[in-house]
Amino acid sequence: MKHVLVLAAAGAAALAGAVIASASPPGGDDTTLSAKKTAPAAAQSFDAVIARHGQTMLEQGRKIFRYDTFGSEAFWGDALQLHKAIAGAKNGGIGPGVSPKTALAVGLKVDSDALPAALKKQLAAGKVNLDDPATTLALLKLNAVVGVTAFTNPDGSVKSMGIQCAFCHSTVDNSFAPGIGKRLDGWANTELNVGAIVALSPALDEHTKAEFRSWGPGKYDPRHHAFDGANIIPLNSPSLPIVIPPIYGLKGVGFETVTADGPISYWNSYVGVGQMGGRGNFADPRIGLFINQTPDLVTPKLAALLDYQLSLRSPTPPRDGFDPEAARRGKHVFRTQAQCSTCHQGPNFTDVLSGPDRRVPLLHDPAEVGMDPAYAARSATGQYRTTPLRGLLQHAPYFHDGSAPDLLAVVNHYDKLFGLHLTPNQKADLVEYLKSL
Ligand code: HEC
Ligand code: HEC
Repeated sequence: MKHVLVLAAAGAAALAGAVIASASPPGGDDTTLSAKKTAPAAAQSFDAVIARHGQTMLEQGRKIFRYDTFGSEAFWGDALQLHKAIAGAKNGGIGPGVSPKTALAVGLKVDSDALPAALKKQLAAGKVNLDDPATTLALLKLNAVVGVTAFTNPDGSVKSMGIQCAFCHSTVDNSFAPGIGKRLDGWANTELNVGAIVALSPALDEHTKAEFRSWGPGKYDPRHHAFDGANIIPLNSPSLPIVIPPIYGLKGVGFETVTADGPISYWNSYVGVGQMGGRGNFADPRIGLFINQTPDLVTPKLAALLDYQLSLRSPTPPRDGFDPEAARRGKHVFRTQAQCSTCHQGPNFTDVLSGPDRRVPLLHDPAEVGMDPAYAARSATGQYRTTPLRGLLQHAPYFHDGSAPDLLAVVNHYDKLFGLHLTPNQKADLVEYLKSL
């Protein structure tokens, strides 16, 4: 429990930091006010220091989110040997290698800002061989593959590789070509096929590979196994992959993950250490997972990482993305006949903080919302959190397991479960409203 408490405290401290940084001026505090009266110049420079500190934290957080592997090459490189599978036999690895075409097909994204102008020109002119694994290696060396970093030997061959948070929680705007463009941090990579990528590992047996391959795009199972720096620890079987969620619009939500196991920093630690395979400490007796590794490359970064995550705003739905008149009618249905707002309430559309004690998440039994209980049973709470609704147009499919392919399927799920008897027009209006969030 000790580590969990420390993490929660680190998260709370950083949260307070973020609030201070965004409030201008930091009033409400008598000392600050009187200091302002007597020495306005000094107080102003104090404000400036706070603002600068906030900005520095954000920039650090962004850097960590995009580029820090936390030492996860121990997993993706040393244990899984994925760098060898990507390089292929011709480039000092194993097997056929991974061409840029294949990499894009499994949902990996290329950051166009990391490409030199000359390469962009060649790409645009179709002069880059996208069937050659050597091109993938060149892109990795440019640090242009979102969320993946390769480490090289002095002779230029690939030594290892690690991943970042951006691997799953960033995509690109496709402004250069499909899969190639500017980074969109916090957006779920709904096309990323983590299972197919892991299954390239020459270190796994066929049975394990088949299980990973069954996950499909946009999904990951964070309860299947953990990595402690040396060994893969089996957690639950068979695997139950869930949707990779967006992580924008989380400011003020309170408890993260579909089962609300803890605040953002708790989960960042869980994933950074046990799932990404970063070097660090994680302990939670509720799920019986204890990982201890020194030096800890994850915990000291959680505060800045939290700041950055809280700064990620939900995308505004495109104007032509929904019918505003129908959305207005749908909002009324949402709040009245369909009873959605009994749970999806407040500015974040969730009731997770509406219980008697704000330190305890308010949750729902799987049966109450017609959900498969199996995934929740593997978490610390055993229940589901009312998902905060934001940027819905961006991240189909819906529900933790992706069981609703589109928003009409979501509405039909509730219509049947609660016996709402919504008319086809009401359903259509409700869908337009959901698209507008
Ligand atoms: C391999 C893919 C993957 C990587 C890498 C990854 N995540 Fe996640 N993340 C997930 C999945 C899947 C979930 C859903 C888990 C759940 O809600 O139970 C999730 C959930 C989250 C949530 C909760 C979102 C919400 O709506 O409650 C946050 C915040 C988050 N991740 C941040 C991070 C950060 C920060 C990192 C880097 C330290 C990271 N993730 C790395 C796959 C990933
Ligand atoms: C009893 C509480 C409750 C009510 C009422 C309710 N929801 Fe939910 N909602 C939840 C919970 C809990 C989840 C998470 C379920 C999961 O992912 O397994 C959820 C998930 C969702 C999601 C998925 C979001 C995502 O990012 O995947 C959508 C969309 C949604 N609800 C819309 C609605 C609509 C529309 C209504 C009204 C017709 C409604 N909800 C009524 C509790 C509720």
